[in-house]
Amino acid sequence: ESTTDVDVSAIEPGQAIKDVFRKQPLFIRRLTDAEIAEANSTPIGALRDPETLDDRTLEGHRDLLVTMGVCTHLGCVPLGVAEGENRGDYNGYFCPCHGSHYDVAGRIRKGPAPTNLLVPEYNFTSDTVIRVG
Ligand code: FES
Repeated sequence: ESTTDVDVSAIEPGQAIKDVFRKQPLFIRRLTDAEIAEANSTPIGALRDPETLDDRTLEGHRDLLVTMGVCTHLGCVPLGVAEGENRGDYNGYFCPCHGSHYDVAGRIRKGPAPTNLLVPEYNFTSDTVIRVG
């Protein structure tokens, strides 16, 4: 099983980068304070796949959202921060294949996808580097 190391120090709030993990797209996004507040104010009952932002990020790094860039419907690559304004109706990610909308925490909110964007196993190996896998 291979791992991927990513230096996340240059990602400013509101920015995102893409990488590759086990030959699949990996999204790494630094949330703004407003996006964190938005994610935390979403009623859990409004979620198809109920998870909080805390469930999906690491303690001490709640601003760093690491997900696979693979739509949970049929596997297309969603659009997001890296593509500009096309983030769907919930300011997160939009899958153009069949219209799935994910929110700022990568949680499915509208469209055919059944589950949230997958958060892979990862941890910080230093203050600035994460190891995925
Ligand atoms: Fe994303 Fe169908 S593959 S909505």
